Amino acid sequence: MTGSTTVNIHSLISTFYQPKGTRTQIIADELNFPSDIYALKGQIQIRGLDPEKELILIRSRDGRYLDEDAIAAAMTDETALVFLPSVLFRSGQLLDMGFLIREAHKKGICIGFDCCHSAGVVPHRFSEWDLDFAVWCSYKYMNGGPGSPAFLYINSKHFHKTPLWPGGTDVKKTGSLT
Ligand SMILES: Cc1ncc(COP(=O)(O)O)c(C=O)c1O
Repeated sequence: MTGSTTVNIHSLISTFYQPKGTRTQIIADELNFPSDIYALKGQIQIRGLDPEKELILIRSRDGRYLDEDAIAAAMTDETALVFLPSVLFRSGQLLDMGFLIREAHKKGICIGFDCCHSAGVVPHRFSEWDLDFAVWCSYKYMNGGPGSPAFLYINSKHFHKTPLWPGGTDVKKTGSLT
């Protein structure tokens, strides 16, 4: 329990977004919470890349719902990372997180979720689903009230990772944090 949702998104994307070779794109969606999109664009810019090219926003046919099969189909060997909401704040659609995690992992892609609108409402089985990372707040369905802290989740298989910069540190490889 720490920080705010947006601060936690910056922390986690800075660790999990590692553009390499052809894999430079982040997949999100056009119905995503606006401040999440600003954070993703900022993280792409920090790497010296162009958000207009590297941020792929999955389109909605009706401006309310997303098609999970279309999201899975957009995951390619150009995808470095997928970051999606668990529940779309405009329509209340609950995405099938288990399915999307399986589809991302089949293609060797890390995936994270913003669970602000599902935390406290539906069960979350992050470890069972093998989710890579997540963020959520405590001031919606957890009734924390204005200013209450947010949360972040990192799958224990990633605990060796540190916030990385281009050419940054992987403790497992270097044995050191410097
Ligand atoms: C889905 C979602 N993501 C991100 C945020 C931004 O949270 P914060 O302003 O606390 O960083 C909110 C806030 O309402 C949200 O609903």
